[in-house]
Amino acid sequence: MESENTKTAEFCCPHCYETLRSDGNHEICSGCASQFERIDDIPVFVSKDSFYEGKFPHTIPFIPVGRLPHPKNIAEILHNIKIKVKMHFTMEYKNSLFLQRACSRLGPESVILDLACGGGNELYSLNGTVYGIDLSLRSLKNAKQIYFRVACADAAKLPFPKDFFDLVVSSDFFGHVPAENKDAVLEEINRVLKPGGKTVHCIETDNNNQRYLKKKFPELYEKHFLEKDGHYGLEFPRQCIERFQKIGFRPLYRKPAFTFITTIDEYLKRFDNEIAEELFLYRVLVKIMRKLNSRGKVRWATSVIFRLFDYLLNAVLPIDNTVTGMIHVIYQKQLGGGEVTRS
Ligand SMILES: C[S@@+](CC[C@H](N)C(=O)[O-])C[C@H]1O[C@@H](n2cnc3c(N)ncnc32)[C@H](O)[C@@H]1O
Ligand SMILES: [Zn+2]
Repeated sequence: MESENTKTAEFCCPHCYETLRSDGNHEICSGCASQFERIDDIPVFVSKDSFYEGKFPHTIPFIPVGRLPHPKNIAEILHNIKIKVKMHFTMEYKNSLFLQRACSRLGPESVILDLACGGGNELYSLNGTVYGIDLSLRSLKNAKQIYFRVACADAAKLPFPKDFFDLVVSSDFFGHVPAENKDAVLEEINRVLKPGGKTVHCIETDNNNQRYLKKKFPELYEKHFLEKDGHYGLEFPRQCIERFQKIGFRPLYRKPAFTFITTIDEYLKRFDNEIAEELFLYRVLVKIMRKLNSRGKVRWATSVIFRLFDYLLNAVLPIDNTVTGMIHVIYQKQLGGGEVTRS
């Protein structure tokens, strides 16, 4: 148990970046004297967010395919093959695989921040010491099971000192950040990264298909594309890239992902509703997706075929094509600083 006035080295005050001291129940800033609650041993730097609280609590599983136990019989061989196919060749694990490759050159000493971590991702815990921040306490309680430290904090006001992380990652987060807050989030990433540190993101994007629906059925678009998940910050790929450039990050990798094709679940989530009732094309699409979803084997086979098409499409299309649902990017903080000060 922590004694009174113990210095907590990992987190700092998100307002003035001074160190925090703990009295057991609170974190107290040694600079501006702000007090922050600790709930279930999780420091809380923001007030409760009624939209996100409890919304994305699940921990993303990850199986390191290179470290599967040696199979002892035919059944185990088949099981291992199934897992390898799932991880490498299905749409569901496309993001995980990209993130795994992006993490692969990290040493065991690496310090990683999972920004807007939800319930966390097992992949990162295999690659270093992981910190997670999110707005939902329920999600953080799950992330805490696999991460070194978690905190309830806003990505635009991070409770970490400068030059702290080797890697800052996010998946399915930037599309949730309203346009007016995005630059502040990127400046914070730049501040907490060590010079030369990398930042890796799977960013949901706006596209012409969505724009079409937005124009034709503004209320349905709002209901099924924005409200459902909180996607109030979708931008076209080009706009996302320009933001990183403005901060001064060095681009290392930028590719479209999920162009036209996405997972069966995602199709059904977006279109198996009033949109399918209104538009013939989507009605047919939903019918096909429901059929493909009805049997496990067909579902997995479909996922593999989708992944192949997705791979081919994304290999030939430029990053700023207009029908991309997500982009994968890796940027690096400049060695000589490249910091932008918040006005
Ligand atoms: C779709 S979930 C993604 C969770 C996780 N990264 C994953 O891949 O499953 C989006 C997450 O962003 C978090 N979030 C949204 N705005 C945030 C902000 N300003 N600061 C921190 N977290 C935020 C939400 O609480 C939610 O857990
Ligand atoms: Zn302070």
